[in-house]
Amino acid sequence: MRGDGGTPSHIPGPAADNDGAEAIAAAGGLHDYQLELHAEYGPVVRFPLPGAGVAVSVADPVLLEATAKIDKRPEKLFEFLAPLQEAGNLQTIPAAEHGPWRRTMLSVLAGRPSHEAHFAQFTALTTELADRWAAAAGPVVLQRDLSELSLRMICRYALGSGLDDAESAGRVVSSFETVLTEYMAQPGPASAQAQEALAHLRATVDQVLAAHRDGGGAADRADLIAALAASGESPARIRDTVLMTMLAAHHTTGVAISWTLYLLARHPETAGRVTEELDRVLGDRATPDYGDLRNLTRLDMALKEAMRLYPPGPYGAREATEDVVLGAYTVPAGTTIFYPFRAVHLNPEYWPDPRVFDPDRFTAEASAGRPRLAYIPFGIGPRSCEGATLAMVEAELVLAVLLKRFQFDLAPGQTVTPIERFVLWAADDIRMNVAPRQSTI
Ligand code: HEM
Repeated sequence: MRGDGGTPSHIPGPAADNDGAEAIAAAGGLHDYQLELHAEYGPVVRFPLPGAGVAVSVADPVLLEATAKIDKRPEKLFEFLAPLQEAGNLQTIPAAEHGPWRRTMLSVLAGRPSHEAHFAQFTALTTELADRWAAAAGPVVLQRDLSELSLRMICRYALGSGLDDAESAGRVVSSFETVLTEYMAQPGPASAQAQEALAHLRATVDQVLAAHRDGGGAADRADLIAALAASGESPARIRDTVLMTMLAAHHTTGVAISWTLYLLARHPETAGRVTEELDRVLGDRATPDYGDLRNLTRLDMALKEAMRLYPPGPYGAREATEDVVLGAYTVPAGTTIFYPFRAVHLNPEYWPDPRVFDPDRFTAEASAGRPRLAYIPFGIGPRSCEGATLAMVEAELVLAVLLKRFQFDLAPGQTVTPIERFVLWAADDIRMNVAPRQSTI
């Protein structure tokens, strides 16, 4: 952890005479604090960040380019994930180790074969949830149910053959929930139950690995575990990867879908354009095929705009490996560089009326000329999200199935307040009344 010693005092920012926790709490959370800081001090701000000493936050997409190749995360800030990892914390392993791992991950996660191979399973899981919602007596609870659906999808994706029956799948999902609640939420030694749940998850990955070996070990371009094994990753690193993937994939995708449904319910005209498109592209089919997704432009734009306003992962961080020049300022090597994704997305210089929900910002014409890093819900550079394209496929599929089938109306009498709880989360969840929707054609 750094003190104030080497930090760039010429960068504007508030007094750094404490660890910053109080100011963050007073602002209502780190993402609101970032908005306040950048409104007051400009696009480059120095501020005390609990656990990182003095950090430098950058909310301008052009200035961010100078940081886009950094391949190091500050260890302190990601220490909380270490107990879940056996072979080194994947969030902070050194660049030389991270690069090959990332390439293997991308060769599967970003590839069309893997999206197509899992599409039918994802569709079946989504339809199960939709059937449950259709039978629900009262309002449905979006974040809870959609995060659970996302967890089910990523479990199937990462463990496929290890989850052949509903009972094994159910046990993996509940073990993961137990691990998450205990290891992430509470400091100190984990309970016997949590240790057992973690051991179960690891044993399941080992079973899948063993099945691959028995089956000849040929790497399938759709299979994450097979690809990791074929590229020489150790069993411990493969177990870590499955856990990290489950962790990174489920609440993020769940809230991306949930915020989109929330915003569409508040903007019926925009929702109407999305559902007209769905009716036109799907006709009387209840669910899309993989190939339909590229024709669901309105849906894609609504999802992107929802992630602009409510980026599921609202910030990221890097550690400068050498001095970084940000316009008029120089940030010394060793400094924590903070990425306030939400403040970047609400930067009025690039997003006029930044708080207005307007998916038309993402038409080709409106996007032309906008700096590349003005929109970064999946982060930046060599440590950006490996699951970005898979997440878009999952979220679009789920939204297509749900919006084709249901009319969503916000249940009255609730206040929806975004807070950060590892992801950008609605504090008291989001409750919706769902009713069958009539096709417009
Ligand atoms: C809408 C859904 C998602 C959002 C918004 C999201 C966002 C992010 C963000 C902001 C980061 C940090 C990036 C940075 O520091 O620059 C990240 C990292 C990561 N995400 Fe995602 N993510 C999503 C879904 C997924 C999915 C589905 C997977 C896997 C299947 C995944 C796997 C990962 C991994 C492994 C990392 C760590 C990257 C690294 O250190 O190399 N994410 N994600």
